Amino acid sequence: MSATTTTPVTSLTVNTRVYEGQKPGTSGLRKAVKVFQQEHYTENFIQAILQAVGDHLTGCTLVVGGDGRFYCKEAVAKIIRIAAANGVGKLIVGQNGILSTPAVSTIIRKYKTQGGIVLTASHNPGGPDADFGIKFNCDNGGPAPDNVTNNIYEITKTLQCYKIIPDISIDIDKIQNISIEVDGRPFTIDIIDSVNDYVELMKEIFDFASIRKLLQGSTDKPAFKILINSMNGVTGPYVKRIFSSELGVDDTSLVNIKPLEDFGGLHPDPNLTYAKDLVNAIKEGPYDFGAAFDGDGDRNMILGKKAFFVTPSDSLAVLAANLKLIPYFQKTGIKGYARSMPTAAAVDRVAAKNEMKFFEVPTGWKYFGNLMDAGDLSLCGEESFGTGSDHIREKDGIWACLAWLNVIAGLGKSVENILLDHWKVYGRNFFTRYDYENCDSACADKMMQSIEALIEKPEFIGKKLQYEGKEYVVKQADNYSYTDPVDGSKATKQGLRILFVDGSRVIFRLSGTGSSGATIRMYIDSYENDPATFEKDAQLVLKPLINIALELSELRQYTHRDAPTVIT
Ligand code: G6P
Ligand code: ZN
Repeated sequence: MSATTTTPVTSLTVNTRVYEGQKPGTSGLRKAVKVFQQEHYTENFIQAILQAVGDHLTGCTLVVGGDGRFYCKEAVAKIIRIAAANGVGKLIVGQNGILSTPAVSTIIRKYKTQGGIVLTASHNPGGPDADFGIKFNCDNGGPAPDNVTNNIYEITKTLQCYKIIPDISIDIDKIQNISIEVDGRPFTIDIIDSVNDYVELMKEIFDFASIRKLLQGSTDKPAFKILINSMNGVTGPYVKRIFSSELGVDDTSLVNIKPLEDFGGLHPDPNLTYAKDLVNAIKEGPYDFGAAFDGDGDRNMILGKKAFFVTPSDSLAVLAANLKLIPYFQKTGIKGYARSMPTAAAVDRVAAKNEMKFFEVPTGWKYFGNLMDAGDLSLCGEESFGTGSDHIREKDGIWACLAWLNVIAGLGKSVENILLDHWKVYGRNFFTRYDYENCDSACADKMMQSIEALIEKPEFIGKKLQYEGKEYVVKQADNYSYTDPVDGSKATKQGLRILFVDGSRVIFRLSGTGSSGATIRMYIDSYENDPATFEKDAQLVLKPLINIALELSELRQYTHRDAPTVIT
């Protein structure tokens, strides 16, 4: 690596104007690229993040990288200039500005930095007319909790100026180490290989030898054929290194592995709608297994032969039940399991049967962090295609794929048979999510208010709701709130829940990751333990409850939509 020292520079203070609405959502500040391109807009938010670091800022180290979408490089350049002027000691930057979200978390933890700035709008489309985002992760490697993001937001509301070194320009395409004297203080930029640290960690966690054997086949077993789709997002270089160089998978089985600024026009969200290419290829092809990842690499979708779909809630439960096959957990032990509130309750049953600690938290990976830091949680997941463990503090798409392959290698069974056997032991939680994207915000708010008013009435408890002969009795209904068992912090209004006597649930939530309009999410979860139902289509099994939910919410009337935009 080359090391360069440049001539001393001095910072400037630039007057700015306040931008309203710089409030981080579920996962950072996410807006249209055009919004970030406004004069001072991005600078303001970066300055606010740095000020929120407070006393720890001077001389600290931060990690910087993103999913390679349009505007990432500009944002990295701005962060370098503003961080230098604010007294940061060192920035660790991914080459070309590329770092997956799990890689940022890995690097923060490995090098014990003060935190990191992740440049991504995750699974939202990219390009000049699409979305961009900036997210701050703390020194545990996880997304900043509410108290930190609220602080950042408060700072943006009164920000008068930001500090910058206008004339540093660094070539981030080259792995190098640059030292600069800024206002008499040393400032270092380390441009690192985007992939190395993450790959090393994966090799420590999983049994690569047995996964390799599975994928290569042996004299008595044909090769287990996989197809991986990176959806032109950030995982491409990681997938190439891990699956091609380390595990010997043929390059033709690794598709869309070049990160593109606009994701090649794809909507890089690995679900049955947006990853249809993968679904179709697996349906028609000779593959035993398929996986896709989102733009920044933290989400995953897992498919078996003929595109047998593993719901994220089931994926979590199956991994929970088989965690002992993975070397990392053999070493650390299994501390506990968790899921987000709307995630189907399949993992609850694994926890109960094995007498493990179990936690339900609001939507958002940040809520798992405290539990992991306290040593109470090993594995967690969300219905929104997130699965991960305490190896880092983000969910991790490639990790989930490797975890599945490690489990498959250990059990020697197909994906479908693993699921069927799992349901035989635990029963099956049928789950579906209906998304109504880009609704009018005012109408969506009205609908949520009206549902809340309805379910709050005392007479709603015990109510019998019917559709085509199937009846559900309301046991409990509320607007979900959560008290963090570690620090006592409270999150309120996290989604409207209707819980039924038989364990089924209907949940309504507004998405917190969109950049405009409102996305209504309706989640349906219903438990069956009759083996005759296990292989049925979830949409058929859930039809009565779906219709009850649609009628009760008057969703069609409020949104003027006959059908959801996405079903998962
Ligand atoms: C991001 C977060 C997840 C969360 C998801 C929910 O991916 O990292 O933890 O589950 O957003 O998104 P939503 O659009 O439902 O708020
Ligand atoms: Zn993501």
